Amino acid sequence: MAGKKHSASRGRVGNASGSGALVPVEESLALPVVNFVPIVSSYNDRIRPLLDAVDKLRHLNITKEGIQLPTIVVVGDQSSGKSSVLESLAGISLPRGQGICTRVPLIMRLQHHSSPTPEIFLEFNSKTIRTDEAQVANAIVVATDEIAGNGKGISNSPLTLVVKKAGVPDLTMVDLPGITRVPVKGQPENIYEQIADIINEYIKPEESIILNVLSATDDFTTCESIRMSQKVDRNGERTLAVVTKSDKSPEGLFEKVTADDVNIGLGYVCVRNRIGDESYEEARQEEAFLFENNPHLSKIDKSMVGISVLAQKLVHIQATLIAKCLPDIVRKIHDKLNANISDLKRLPKTLSSPAEALTTLMGIIGAVKDSLKKLLVNGEYDEYPDENQMHCSARLVEMFNKYSSDLNNSPESDPTRDFLIAEVRVLDEGKRIELPNFVPRNAFLAVLQPKVHRISHIPVDFVVKIWDYIEEVVISVLMHQSENYHQLEASTRRACRNLMEKMKEKSINWVLEVVQMEKLSDYTCSPEYVTEWNKLMAAQQVFFDLVEKNQGSNINIEGLGLVVVKDDLRGYMPVLRQAYDLKMRMTAYWKVVMRRLVDSMALYLQLSIRNLVNNELEKEIVNQLMTTYNGQIEKMLEESPAIAAKREKLNASIRLLKHSKDLLANIMDNLTSVVF
Ligand SMILES: *[C@@H]1O[C@H](CO)[C@@H](O)[C@H](O)[C@H]1NC(C)=O
Ligand SMILES: *[C@@H]1O[C@H](CO)[C@@H](O)[C@H](O)[C@H]1NC(C)=O
Ligand SMILES: *[C@@H]1O[C@H](CO)[C@@H](O)[C@H](O)[C@H]1NC(C)=O
Ligand SMILES: *[C@@H]1O[C@H](CO)[C@@H](O)[C@H](O)[C@H]1NC(C)=O
Repeated sequence: MAGKKHSASRGRVGNASGSGALVPVEESLALPVVNFVPIVSSYNDRIRPLLDAVDKLRHLNITKEGIQLPTIVVVGDQSSGKSSVLESLAGISLPRGQGICTRVPLIMRLQHHSSPTPEIFLEFNSKTIRTDEAQVANAIVVATDEIAGNGKGISNSPLTLVVKKAGVPDLTMVDLPGITRVPVKGQPENIYEQIADIINEYIKPEESIILNVLSATDDFTTCESIRMSQKVDRNGERTLAVVTKSDKSPEGLFEKVTADDVNIGLGYVCVRNRIGDESYEEARQEEAFLFENNPHLSKIDKSMVGISVLAQKLVHIQATLIAKCLPDIVRKIHDKLNANISDLKRLPKTLSSPAEALTTLMGIIGAVKDSLKKLLVNGEYDEYPDENQMHCSARLVEMFNKYSSDLNNSPESDPTRDFLIAEVRVLDEGKRIELPNFVPRNAFLAVLQPKVHRISHIPVDFVVKIWDYIEEVVISVLMHQSENYHQLEASTRRACRNLMEKMKEKSINWVLEVVQMEKLSDYTCSPEYVTEWNKLMAAQQVFFDLVEKNQGSNINIEGLGLVVVKDDLRGYMPVLRQAYDLKMRMTAYWKVVMRRLVDSMALYLQLSIRNLVNNELEKEIVNQLMTTYNGQIEKMLEESPAIAAKREKLNASIRLLKHSKDLLANIMDNLTSVVF
């Protein structure tokens, strides 16, 4: 049995998509049906739980979590007859009057029930108000005033109207304020924009079906509601049109709905609403009579006329829509729930005892040390794959190469510069009675000391730069690891700054000491010094031959390069040989000095960084925290208000999503048996 039912329902869908429309309509609708139940009841039995579930989700405000619900949204220009259509569908009276009557989104939940007494109530601002058919219009006005104020303003907070009545179709629709171009007295200037914003919010989601109410007396192409729905649904695939006031303008209506100039993909339904004191039953009979007998209107196919056709179409559209959307909704709820749960898990735990706080603090310090060890000592940067600035070993090597090249390219390292000038001056002033080919050590130091002094800023600048860089790295690791504890962030930042100042000062002192050592002594055990000196001295004879013959002033010395022999050097002939020797010793020795400055710096920095990572940083942070917080660890790990708020929000989202998931879990099992 069940299988047969199935294939029958599937067959209907096939027809629907085949003709490009969502909704096929059954044949029996030409009759003036007053009570929808006989036709739709088996259908309703299956769709009803799903519709209830969607209504419950709507009630839970699940759209706030970014999950859109399948919704039939009713839009229309002011005085298009929108309220009349809804009244006819619901069989009750809605507020009437000048200006906008619908000032808030009105969620109308129509439910057939078998008891002859209707049950009508309003839900808004977390309360439920019972009313009856006679009072409902008034009750809506009162509720609207409470939500949107007494004036003529509008609000985006919805009002829910539940109508349980024998014979109404099971339908949930959202009625939106009618579109008005010109503000009337008492309305805000931007009333059009306000209404358009609300309408757009509701009709934009792909899950919304747009029920566009048009007046037969209007030119459809100029309707504001058409303009709006076309913006979000260009081809009208989810737009259905209801044409009201068919009796007022029967001529040409057939042509208008056949031509379909405004792209209504789901088709047109022409209706005649209740007039004057007619009962709803009488109105339906009048409507049937009209479309049967009016020479213009009778041309319109019977599957396109009458309130009951509209009701059936809507019920069917709604069922198809829900069946189509629900699996997606279930998936989205599942995804969002998982995302939010893992977000919540990733938030730091709230710390409730000093022991917990201490554990957390130790964890953070341990993590910081591990990270820094990877970055600064081991050269691993898997934690910061995309941040080049954090790839420390590469950056340090670059900085180091720059340092080395700064030293070797400094003017002091150019042996051809001011060739022999300093040497001659020193020797001339320090001349003593002694053997002429002997280079006095005093003279050597007298040249060396100012030379060393002139490059001493390079290593000093370098260590400052290195520690500035390391400070950046350390702070960014610290901030990353303690980001959830704003007090801790501030304290560790301060501790890091202090420590870096100390490291910098210590390094500068060390550099100055190294420079001082270089100034005081001239020593190396490197044999290269002698080799280099010998090589340079080999060119001595050629050089002096040229100088003595006064041949040119630019002389190429092998191993040194092109030198300029200044004229006044020739006046110092007696010390010139000594000066040459001194220069060559200095040149050979300077290379040793440069290498020593680079090498010792490398070793020194390695040691300092290791010390920093392994001992100093932890000591400094703990000291800083203990002095600031007097040992009260819980205080330092106080949660920032932003984190607390985020936790609260996630908690609420998770609660809502879980609730929704449970709600759907029950009916999803049944969904498979309601395939259309
Ligand atoms: C949904 O939001 C409205 C206001 O937008 C609020 O009055 C109502 O209480 C909320 N419902 C739930 C279940 O949180
Ligand atoms: C829950 O997860 C969703 C999807 O990842 C996200 O858009 C939303 O912002 C999260 N909620 C909260 C409160 O963070
Ligand atoms: C999250 O909500 C649950 C109840 O739903 C509550 O027990 C728990 O304390 C909340 N957690 C936070 C951090 O607010
Ligand atoms: C699902 O279907 C079973 C039987 O077909 C029914 O008893 C149950 O009430 C249905 N559940 C819901 C939530 O509709």
